[in-house]
Amino acid sequence: MPNILLLAGDGIGPEVMAQTKRVLEWASDKASLNFTFQDALAGGASYDAHGTPLTDEVLESALNADAVILGAVGGPDYDNVERHLRPEIALLKLRKELDLFANLRPAITYPSLANASSLKPELVSGLDILIVRELTSGVYFGTPRGMETLPDGTQRCVDTQSYTEAEISRIAHVAFELAKQRNNLVHSAEKANVMETGAFWRKIVTETHAKHFSDITLEHILADNCAMQLVRCPKQFDVLVTDNLFGDLLSDVAAMLTGSLGMLPSASLGAPDVNGKRRAMYEPVHGSAPDIAGKNIANPIATIASSSMMLRYSFNCEQIANKIDKAIETVLDNGLRTADIAGDNDRSISTTDMGDAILQALT
Ligand code: IPM
Ligand code: MG
Repeated sequence: MPNILLLAGDGIGPEVMAQTKRVLEWASDKASLNFTFQDALAGGASYDAHGTPLTDEVLESALNADAVILGAVGGPDYDNVERHLRPEIALLKLRKELDLFANLRPAITYPSLANASSLKPELVSGLDILIVRELTSGVYFGTPRGMETLPDGTQRCVDTQSYTEAEISRIAHVAFELAKQRNNLVHSAEKANVMETGAFWRKIVTETHAKHFSDITLEHILADNCAMQLVRCPKQFDVLVTDNLFGDLLSDVAAMLTGSLGMLPSASLGAPDVNGKRRAMYEPVHGSAPDIAGKNIANPIATIASSSMMLRYSFNCEQIANKIDKAIETVLDNGLRTADIAGDNDRSISTTDMGDAILQALT
């Protein structure tokens, strides 16, 4: 019986998670998966209850779960909390401890939502990009980091960007493998013109490509140019592989191409073990949106689409995953919109209504 750990988190997290759980229950029944669900606290919710954003027990549950799904963490209530106790630490710790180095962020523009994008509809309609972000290294985790006081009494603060050859080649492998199932094109983004780690990233990606994936087209692109190209002509991309920090930035840009940050799901995957099983955590790319929390207006689609990625990548249920994706598309085609994707003349529906509509399209 696969064990699914649900970490609803903060802000709109519990609201979008409630709708996602319904979809997962449907999938479990439909495919006789016999999921068991465990709810636990993470982020600010855990800090409020236990004084830490992630308890050892919850970390242990995550390590033992067959898959983890997370809503969102963070919020203004925690702005003055010490850095090592902030809600985001829960996320970073889960990523690091579960070694979820490969973060897949598909940016798909549903045709009926092309008008919701801030870009011209013809630029984004039918868009299908997969961002592969390195998630457990780079400047997010590099040492040394922190403050020091200089001899003159002023302060200096340091973050460290660092990558090993193994870290770069394993994420490049993931990107090339995924490109094989898509359009055989990988863009690799870095700042090889300025950063030592950028030049090194380019070298290792080039070597990995030459050694194992020479039948796939590889393009190197500077990360700043990549940001520009994403808004200029996004359909030129298929798979985009990049480091932790650039991946964070570029995936927010890509999200807006799809109409709303409320649309983008993600999967964070570890390396497969001898049985082909990998640790995995699924989460929407959006944050906890404290300004709209508790109002039943948040868009649950990114989290529901993350559960579809779970079925695909953790349980090999391609058909069920496709059904969920299709249900989302149907609901959008039928003109149903939460506030974030509603046009000026659209009536917007609630989080629970959107959940109802997707379940109805499924059954
Ligand atoms: C993301 C988020 C996180 C990140 C934050 C919440 C720590 O922005 O998943 O993109 O920076 O990785
Ligand atoms: Mg981000």
